Amino acid sequence: LSKYFHTYIFSCCRSFAYLTIRDRLPEILSKVVDTVHRHKNKFFQEHGQEGVEAEKRVISFLSKLRNELQTDKPVIPLTDGLPDSELWNQYLQQQKALLGRNERPSWFKSPWLYVECYMYRRIHEAVKQSALLVEFPWFQSKKQQLFFYVIICTTLKIIYLCNILCSIGFVIDAGKSPKIKELMPFITQISLWGNRCDLSISAGRDNSQKSSLLASLEGLKAFILVDDSKSVWSVLLESKKTKAEETSSTRVDIILDNAGFELVTDLVLADFLLASQLATEIHFHGKCMPWFVSDTTKEDFDWTLRVLQADNHFWMSNCGIKWEGLAKKGVWVYHEHSFWTLPHEFRDMAEVAPDLHAELQKSNLIFFKGDLNYRKLTGDRKWDLTTSFHQSLQGFHPAPLCSLRTLKADIQVGLQPGQGEQLTASDANWMTNGKYAIIQLSAST
Ligand code: F6P
Ligand code: MG
Repeated sequence: LSKYFHTYIFSCCRSFAYLTIRDRLPEILSKVVDTVHRHKNKFFQEHGQEGVEAEKRVISFLSKLRNELQTDKPVIPLTDGLPDSELWNQYLQQQKALLGRNERPSWFKSPWLYVECYMYRRIHEAVKQSALLVEFPWFQSKKQQLFFYVIICTTLKIIYLCNILCSIGFVIDAGKSPKIKELMPFITQISLWGNRCDLSISAGRDNSQKSSLLASLEGLKAFILVDDSKSVWSVLLESKKTKAEETSSTRVDIILDNAGFELVTDLVLADFLLASQLATEIHFHGKCMPWFVSDTTKEDFDWTLRVLQADNHFWMSNCGIKWEGLAKKGVWVYHEHSFWTLPHEFRDMAEVAPDLHAELQKSNLIFFKGDLNYRKLTGDRKWDLTTSFHQSLQGFHPAPLCSLRTLKADIQVGLQPGQGEQLTASDANWMTNGKYAIIQLSAST
């Protein structure tokens, strides 16, 4: 067991994981403290002296948390009694058992994936300290600022996307139409590169797509290290054919990552799959608490649809209204599940969250957006770069699944022999600088 345990990526040896825990995570915690502090007057106006006391308690909790992290203290059990806390505490016990008798899991001596998730869960615990601050929008303003920044500063990219969508609505037969076949990789790549804009990698600093993504798509193709788009297309066509035979529905699931620009690109992908009749229903899956700074929650999802609808620009409001309608009709379904904010890798899903696993088994194709989902798919292990994607999933396969991810962590599988060495020779940080991406499919069970 302990041999297996050490295949996780640890935060040691000046690795990317180490630098994340040493520099990026404390910076994120400091920003949360600043945000709470800036709302002091608001707490006072709304709740009087009690609000000020609540604010002080939360700040002291978060400062203690930052100190625990920076001084490599042992990871401690959660005490907020929320429904998921027992699973977290059991997980900690398992980590202890794996480490051996005299060692205790601590911030720098535990798997990176675990402690990074643990920090966000402890921030949530801080909020729950006070019933008065439960609704406090930890990262909300950052996510919303980013959204507006993208709209204002990036030459109307979203408008253009919405425009394209409206004009392809008329194309009907996906099998015969060359237009759909040409557009599919284009729309997939937009959703792929949308993943560059997450806020956790930049510790909450602006990390938006500044150049025009649409204009750069052609040039970016060289940076897609694995491109299984054609097989993704085949999976969808096959499902469409089966659907015709059985007159049932074709369902695509999107496990969302970041709100803001990336979420809009995911909604565009969803709209395209429906318009082209490659799918008949789309199921979105989001986080049920603020996670890795910019990850999508239900509030972000609803907010995005509202803001688009209210926009002055015809194409944007058109999409907003249409999408709201799809959600109301149940063609777009939004799901929340606490599993997405647990520390477990996805191979544990069938055991830890059998209901979610059964839900995903109903899908014809699941898109997993982003880097964190990739880390959880592959268990954040030190896999050889040429290990097959299928093997790295360690049995997790509720349905055909495809990762759309820009690389922001030192893990990758499914490369050709020699490909990794070539990349390292030309760009030492290729695994973590967000310049490269993959469209990686596992279709077989
Ligand atoms: O440290 C940077 C980081 O937090 C990674 O740990 C994580 O995988 C990534 O950023 C989040 O990226 P994404 O939003 O693509 O999941
Ligand atoms: Mg994210």
